[in-house]
Amino acid sequence: MSSTQEPQARPRILSGIQPTSDTIHLGNYLGAVRQWAQLQEDFEPFFFIANQHAITVEHDAKLLRERTYRAAAQLVAAGVDPERSAIFVQSHVPEHAQLGWIMECITGFGEARRMTQFKDKSAKIGEGSVSVGLLTYPMLMAADILLYRPQYVPVGEDQRQHLELTRDLAQRFNHRFKKTFRLPEAYIPKATAKIMDLQDPTSKMSKSASSPAGLIDVLDDPKVTAKKIRSAVTDSGSEVRFDEAEKPGIANLLRIYSALSGTEIEALEKQYAGKGYGDFKKDLADVVVEFVTPFRDRTLALLDDRAELDRILAAGAEKARAVAARTLVDVYDRVGFVAPVRSADQ
Ligand code: TYM
Repeated sequence: MSSTQEPQARPRILSGIQPTSDTIHLGNYLGAVRQWAQLQEDFEPFFFIANQHAITVEHDAKLLRERTYRAAAQLVAAGVDPERSAIFVQSHVPEHAQLGWIMECITGFGEARRMTQFKDKSAKIGEGSVSVGLLTYPMLMAADILLYRPQYVPVGEDQRQHLELTRDLAQRFNHRFKKTFRLPEAYIPKATAKIMDLQDPTSKMSKSASSPAGLIDVLDDPKVTAKKIRSAVTDSGSEVRFDEAEKPGIANLLRIYSALSGTEIEALEKQYAGKGYGDFKKDLADVVVEFVTPFRDRTLALLDDRAELDRILAAGAEKARAVAARTLVDVYDRVGFVAPVRSADQ
């Protein structure tokens, strides 16, 4: 049996996050990272810091280095256990870039240009100003995933199109050469698939938000965070009711409240029946502060011990490479690359 067809003792999951900010935001946490910590119990987990994706737009080298450590510390603070999960840096596993090239060679130029993220960014700043790396980003992402043959990829809704391309490329490769890749499924729980901006609840919460008031940065001073929640945009009326179309602001806050407290949205509606938005937001601010305060303390403590973070990332890269290298050997063989013969064997 070839290595890519070996049964997995536990099905794998894989996901990644870009180190493009000093702190993850509440959308990253609720939409993705929290699921990573939960799923690690039942799956064989691989989580990585996508530093190669982070250079598709202009960046500062010193900041990227620091943010890579910050991302690692935050994953651990969020409950991703380095003993159980491989936590690694993308560039520590060269197979990602190597398989990325092959994915680029089976993707149509038009197909790549049609990807939403590329279309949006190039429309904003002009196609002449975006990098080729931004165009080929989804192919690198397909490689990130397919190397590990995961069953699920836990991400937020904004990554769905990338997952669909990944499945298309896997199928194309399997069909053109030989069955090599497993078709991964996106794992996107509906309740937290898209956390919205607090000031503009029709746009997703994002680090590139137009106003910082709409973004909950998890490592921010908890007092600032509480204030942002209390000043979140609500809708006309005064009833705390889940209605995505009529009350997108309150619907978003109810989702956040429910996700962090574990209380069903219906129960929250009952709890706040007859009370105003003010009481509701004040209580939600407390719930959010209760989450961010220990998260921040844990992250800062981990950041004080770089040697430990280096150790975690080295162990993660070792686990990841063991899997990735075997997949790449199969892929190279199937596309017809002659295997290198070590001079000692000749
Ligand atoms: P990134 O770094 O932008 O975001 C990390 C994760 O956070 C999720 N997310 C959200 N979820 C809900 N509501 C929001 N407002 C929100 N904002 C962000 C994202 O969906 C993501 O899951 N391309 C990826 C990184 C990546 C990757 C991969 C992921 C590279 N290779 C392979 C999975 C598998 C990205 O830019 O995520």
